[in-house]
Amino acid sequence: MMVRGLMLEVGLARNIIFYFSGTGNSLKCALAISERLADSKLVNMGPQYTCHPDECYDRVGFVFPCYMGGLPHRVREFIATLDASILKDAYIYTVITSGGPGWLYGYLPAAVNDLLAAHDAQLSYYALLQAFSSYVVYYDMSPKVEEKNLLLEEQLAVVLDDVAEGCTRRVGRGFGLLKVMDRSGQSLAEWDREFVVNNNCISCGQCQRICPVANIQMAGGQPSWLHHCEQCLSCLQWCPKRAIDFDNKTQTRGRYHNPDISATHMISLLHDKPC
Ligand SMILES: Cc1cc2nc3c(=O)[nH]c(=O)nc-3n(C[C@H](O)[C@H](O)[C@H](O)COP(=O)(O)O)c2cc1C
Ligand code: SF4
Ligand code: SF4
Repeated sequence: MMVRGLMLEVGLARNIIFYFSGTGNSLKCALAISERLADSKLVNMGPQYTCHPDECYDRVGFVFPCYMGGLPHRVREFIATLDASILKDAYIYTVITSGGPGWLYGYLPAAVNDLLAAHDAQLSYYALLQAFSSYVVYYDMSPKVEEKNLLLEEQLAVVLDDVAEGCTRRVGRGFGLLKVMDRSGQSLAEWDREFVVNNNCISCGQCQRICPVANIQMAGGQPSWLHHCEQCLSCLQWCPKRAIDFDNKTQTRGRYHNPDISATHMISLLHDKPC
């Protein structure tokens, strides 16, 4: 149930948004929230975040995709090891994007809450948003990019108002049809052994720069994977020359990234530089 509650002082707010994103859907949501709120800081959940002793925020957000019916391994690890002081007295919310409809994943906010409980904190609000389904390793992706992006925008508009106004949404234990499929505890670190590079590679190094967990190094002009992969598929999806494939599965399949996000923007945020 949604309760229109507490009106936060937007002008005075200090907000931090922790995000994780491979193909830009979750980043689009995080950026929209940060634009809507005053004084927001966007932080990639790839590396560990170091807090300053006196750092505190009015709102703390966690925005990321659903992977394997669960939380991405890195997101789980990030929240579990976050300095609890940053959460104290904050309005904490999560926005989770998935390829399937959000109601399939009603148990995911409870999974976030379980991690927060260890820090003596809990979610005030959550949203589960359906976006374009990007897991090209498992299926050929839909051609309906624009349609899915519009659908995401419609759902996002509601979330922007809710978060700006400090609305609350109670997190129950949460059920969802796909809970049985949740494989998020399983590490995907070694799956990068299946990536192959073809002759189209121009040694531009974008794959290295766009990896959110610094799992790629350039060796002899080609990417080489370091085996702490999160399977976000950012390297494969954003390669300007379609030079990266996953085993023999993706050669004939399309590539996707959110149409409103550019590689330059993704990279500049990851490396905290203006684009
Ligand atoms: C490794 C991986 C696993 C995924 N698993 C699921 C899933 O179990 N259910 C689902 O609905 N979508 C799944 N997806 C699709 C993403 O959740 C969806 O496209 C999301 O919006 C991607 O967010 P991003 O663009 O911020 O990376 C998966 C995508 C990837 C890359
Ligand atoms: S992004 Fe593509 S073209 Fe550029 S170095 Fe990586 S594999 Fe090669
Ligand atoms: S190596 Fe590729 S798939 Fe793995 S985490 Fe980095 S960008 Fe994502």
